[in-house]
Amino acid sequence: MSAPARPPRREALTSPGEDVAQRQEGSQVSIALRIDGARLQRRIAQLAEVGAIDGGGCARLALTDADRAGRDLVCSWMHELGLAVSVDAIGNVVGVRAGHNSDTTVAGPAVMTGSHIDTVRTGGRYDGNYGVLAGLEVVATLNDAGIVTEHPLAVAFFTNEEGARFAPDMMGSLVYTGALPLDEALSTRGIDGASVGDELQRIGYAGPAPVPAAAPRAFVELHVEQGPVLDREGTQIGVVESVQGISWTELEILGTSNHAGTTPMALRRDAGWAAGSIINFVRELAQELGGDQVATVGRIEFFPNLVNVVPNRAVLTVDLRNTDEARLQLAEARLAAHLEALRDAETVDIATRSLARFAPVPFAPEMTARIEHHARALGLSTRRMPSGAGHDAQMLAAVCPTAMIFVPSVDGISHNVREYTHPEHIEAGANVLLAVLCELAGTTPPAGAPA
Ligand code: GLV
Ligand code: MN
Ligand code: MN
Repeated sequence: MSAPARPPRREALTSPGEDVAQRQEGSQVSIALRIDGARLQRRIAQLAEVGAIDGGGCARLALTDADRAGRDLVCSWMHELGLAVSVDAIGNVVGVRAGHNSDTTVAGPAVMTGSHIDTVRTGGRYDGNYGVLAGLEVVATLNDAGIVTEHPLAVAFFTNEEGARFAPDMMGSLVYTGALPLDEALSTRGIDGASVGDELQRIGYAGPAPVPAAAPRAFVELHVEQGPVLDREGTQIGVVESVQGISWTELEILGTSNHAGTTPMALRRDAGWAAGSIINFVRELAQELGGDQVATVGRIEFFPNLVNVVPNRAVLTVDLRNTDEARLQLAEARLAAHLEALRDAETVDIATRSLARFAPVPFAPEMTARIEHHARALGLSTRRMPSGAGHDAQMLAAVCPTAMIFVPSVDGISHNVREYTHPEHIEAGANVLLAVLCELAGTTPPAGAPA
């Protein structure tokens, strides 16, 4: 929402879209363009101070005061870097760096990178934040080198990617791409009863930019893997080919509360027991289906939640994921059959509410090939892989060529304050992002260099 500013226009030193480290023709020696790993680490550490929790992690649930403080900090960096910053009606923030081809300060024709800065309540400092701050580091690197790209470059952070307070997850990118109506998103109530619309107004991030927004030229999201594959293998870069399907359901079980000491087992309508049975069932289901099937009960509440009272109500969530849509549908059908059996066995009522449902999303092959090419040109080891976590990129993939870059997460730990990625991997991933974005956005050739 500040005055648009063009980046300083000076002669470019090099063309980082190519393997600049190896480019040495005749008398012309290119200087390798690289991001500043220490500067990126400083920003990651500074953002992690906002909503900091014991153990080095962050609690910045979407649209809370902590989220607002994180947003304010990142926006201040965007302004410092000369980006034209806009906020849209769902609170997504986009900073645009103008290109030669266009004076426009809207993101539509831009090559975009970004992710999210909201966290789960027990979040680490890298999930989402890394991708946004690496995008800013790319901008800083281009500014320092005086490089103006042909097309504009945009760095975005999307509202409520995590979905831990308001479902569905990836809410901001869903609205940005037109897959979720704005009104529906704004009227969503969170686990604390607050609405997205009220909370956006309260924190001052209900912006004027319209949604759905124009599709970017391309979207690249850099993220920590959040799983163990790269770390275990010792591979430096994950080339993400797809995001697995996600099915989130909230279940409300209604039984009868009664005295824990006097009610015979055969006469109970125990909502707590039924909830426990579901936890057990989904675990066994995932083991039985095997392959990529995973299943989690991550939230549960008992009512009245007292030691000597049979619960009359339980509310819990089930998170089912699979890379294969047919297998995911099978898991959903098996869960539905289990709920039916439980209704009979314990004479409880069970109501279901879908919180999120996304089919698996393949990324654009030309984008994954580009990422792989640049990672290898930088001398980094790569492997192709699906993403187990949901990401804003899976929504952007519906409107523009999209792919993701992963770096290793130590021990595969995430959504946990112990989430950690080694500095050399943080730096390597950001250098791959730099190279890919430069190629996509088109850099100015070095002065006097052959075309
Ligand atoms: C988002 O982090 C998700 O995959 O749950
Ligand atoms: Mn994330
Ligand atoms: Mn996350």
